[in-house]
Amino acid sequence: MSHRNTAAKLPEHILIFPLPLQGHVNSMLHLAELLSLSGLHVTMLLSEYTHGRLLRHGNLHSRFSRYSGFRIATIEDGLPADHPRVGERIMDIVLSLKEVGGSLFRNLMESTDALSDGGARRRVSCLIMDGEIIDAGEVPLKGKDEDKMTYWKRKEMDLMVTSIPGMEGLIRRRDIGGFCRVDDINDTGFQTIKTETKRTTTAKALILNTFEDLEGPIIDQIRKHIPNLYSIGPLHAHLKARLELKGIESSNHSSSFWEEDRSCMAWLNSQPENSVLYVNFGSVTLLTKDELLEFWYGLVNSGQRFLWVIRPDSIVENDGNEVPIELDEGTKARGYMLEWVPQREVLAHRAIGVFFTHSGWNSTLESICIGIPMLCWAYFADQTTNSRFISEVWKMGFDIKDTCDRILIEKMVREIMEVRRNEFLERARFMATMAKKTISEGGDSYSNLDRLIEFLKSTII
Ligand code: UDX
Repeated sequence: MSHRNTAAKLPEHILIFPLPLQGHVNSMLHLAELLSLSGLHVTMLLSEYTHGRLLRHGNLHSRFSRYSGFRIATIEDGLPADHPRVGERIMDIVLSLKEVGGSLFRNLMESTDALSDGGARRRVSCLIMDGEIIDAGEVPLKGKDEDKMTYWKRKEMDLMVTSIPGMEGLIRRRDIGGFCRVDDINDTGFQTIKTETKRTTTAKALILNTFEDLEGPIIDQIRKHIPNLYSIGPLHAHLKARLELKGIESSNHSSSFWEEDRSCMAWLNSQPENSVLYVNFGSVTLLTKDELLEFWYGLVNSGQRFLWVIRPDSIVENDGNEVPIELDEGTKARGYMLEWVPQREVLAHRAIGVFFTHSGWNSTLESICIGIPMLCWAYFADQTTNSRFISEVWKMGFDIKDTCDRILIEKMVREIMEVRRNEFLERARFMATMAKKTISEGGDSYSNLDRLIEFLKSTII
């Protein structure tokens, strides 16, 4: 009884569990900080592997030291430390978490002290997960509409898709997320995504890192299935705005899995305004040596300045052969290559003209918020849809989809840097204004976050 009385006075305790990938961890950390800022107790559950990377390269602990209610807990992802967590292999993380993580997670939730600091904080009252990455235990699957789920074969890819409510006339088959385009309906990745999507409708609420002016018609469709929906993005910018409102300086924190190489900032300082193409394909993309050369020739032959970030683990079949002399010379003359950078700072630099991106969702939002046009090459998953929206719906750039050809890349780089940049820039700046409005007092995302916090504070289980 006394425990209940004490617990009643304690703030609600939220457990946040992101998919252990860079983009997902980044946005969930922004969410964790927004909730901590509102006085909620938050435990961030990270895979041990992810936590190790953050300790080595980020400054997670100093970032959260101002929040007394913030804790980190860790869980094994069930994979050996040297397992490749990139490319299509990221699905192994999801499958392993389901198999191994589920019981570990339930043990953690059931143990009295593990998350409640021996009674100093309330037991977890709410769980925020990146989709249903693990089986939390008690969530029953609803419905038996197996046959209604559509899947697409890899043929007739240019046909428009008319059957997705909210996206009518906007996307072709080739723009559908990669996990949903399979030759075999029993494909494990496809089946997993399908099951998880359905399970999402059993959640008490849905939080989306997007905003109404960006994807209103689509959010409306999702709302029909999960009415208790909160679109509160772009999270990174929303956090910055809320910190500023409270008079707190948003320090240049890093939650990078790789060491940030800041030498690019000095190089950018010496470049003319809007003259540099920033090339970065994110945290899980893999390139073959042949693809690498196609991109490289395309960039060098375009004659444009470029800052190209290539993760050390992103090149497969690297034979270690010498780089062709013309690429070496072209790069020395106009380019700068490195392994990982503070991306948001780079995007905000006055020298950046266009972002050549894999269209990961965080990169897309970061570019939108700064108002930078994009040249899109999609690697997989949601990136194929994002790149279509960037070019055809928001009209902020070009989408070369998954084509990797030096002639095309050279042509598109020239076109976007020399011919169409101003036109795309105007749209990009308009989108940036929308993003700013939504996270300002009275804006949609701003009000939705307030509603979400109220909802979380009233959720007692
Ligand atoms: C993954 C999935 O691949 C993607 O489809 C999904 O939309 C999000 O998660 P990822 O490769 O991690 O994408 O890309 P993205 O979502 O763009 O996130 C990458 C994050 O790392 C961004 O926040 C970006 O700012 C940061 N980053 C990237 C750096 O800080 N430095 C870098 O050099 C590269």
